[in-house]
Amino acid sequence: MTNGRLSGKVAVVTGGASGIGLATVRRFIAHGAQVMIGDIEGDRAAEVATELGQAVGSRRCDVSAESDVEALFEETQNRFGGVHIAFANAGIGSFAPVVDAEVPDWMRVLEVNLVGPLLTIKHAARRMDKGGSIVLTASLNAVQPAIGMSAYCCSKAGLAMLAQVAALELGPKGIRVNAIGPGLVRTGLTDGMWLMPQIVEEFDENAPLKTSTSTEDVANLVAFLASEESSSISGTLQLIDRAAHTMRYPNLLARFTDATGTGSQSS
Ligand SMILES: NC(=O)c1ccc[n+]([C@@H]2O[C@H](COP(=O)([O-])OP(=O)(O)OC[C@H]3O[C@@H](n4cnc5c(N)ncnc54)[C@H](O)[C@@H]3O)[C@@H](O)[C@H]2O)c1
Repeated sequence: MTNGRLSGKVAVVTGGASGIGLATVRRFIAHGAQVMIGDIEGDRAAEVATELGQAVGSRRCDVSAESDVEALFEETQNRFGGVHIAFANAGIGSFAPVVDAEVPDWMRVLEVNLVGPLLTIKHAARRMDKGGSIVLTASLNAVQPAIGMSAYCCSKAGLAMLAQVAALELGPKGIRVNAIGPGLVRTGLTDGMWLMPQIVEEFDENAPLKTSTSTEDVANLVAFLASEESSSISGTLQLIDRAAHTMRYPNLLARFTDATGTGSQSS
């Protein structure tokens, strides 16, 4: 579905070079927005921008580095004349049982998944002088614990609270802040799970809705939250998980340990 509901708007999308972020960039421009991609994979982001044309720019950006995030918003303002929408979507995962947790691995997940969105909100909101919409990619794991995923789950639960605090502070300035919580979506982050079909089957068994969630489904939700159609919605976590939160999360750590003989991995 396309229409001009974001025409005249300028959006920043972090982690926009692939997966959910890229599908959202495509959806935003289909709705008439101009978009700046910030991604740690600067070359891939530049290729995407070239493919999508003049409405899309890109800049290499590590969301955990404040100078990178500040420069991303400055370049967006210079190129497109303002910022109305920010999608703080870049994220990474890691696997390790709590008793084997390595502090540097834990900290890196928090830096990218939680501090990154904090910096994105900070520098977006400073430039949204006429209001705006900020969307954070949390996860089903913001509300559902998963064995071996302590850093990821805590970072995403923190994001859901960050959306509330930021919505509280920024509401009087006309800036809305919401988080989204996808269940399993096939992207670069999760592609490995399709090599072990029993994992995907276990996700399906634990989702009451027997559909699948695509990156485009998630992009539709983000576009709604970015648009004026959601003008009274702020401070929420919108799950997009086939109601999987009503059931249980698969034990991915056990599946990966069976398959690889090792209990830790990160991506
Ligand atoms: N795929 C799923 O099932 C799923 C489910 C719930 C939540 N999520 C979340 O969705 C978001 C997007 O992930 P995805 O599934 O599209 O995976 P993906 O790997 O396809 O996309 C993530 C993007 O973020 C970029 N990135 C990673 N670290 C970065 C950093 N420090 N700074 C800037 N960019 C960085 C990557 O280069 C990549 O382009 C993540 O926050 C992830 O936690 C994904």
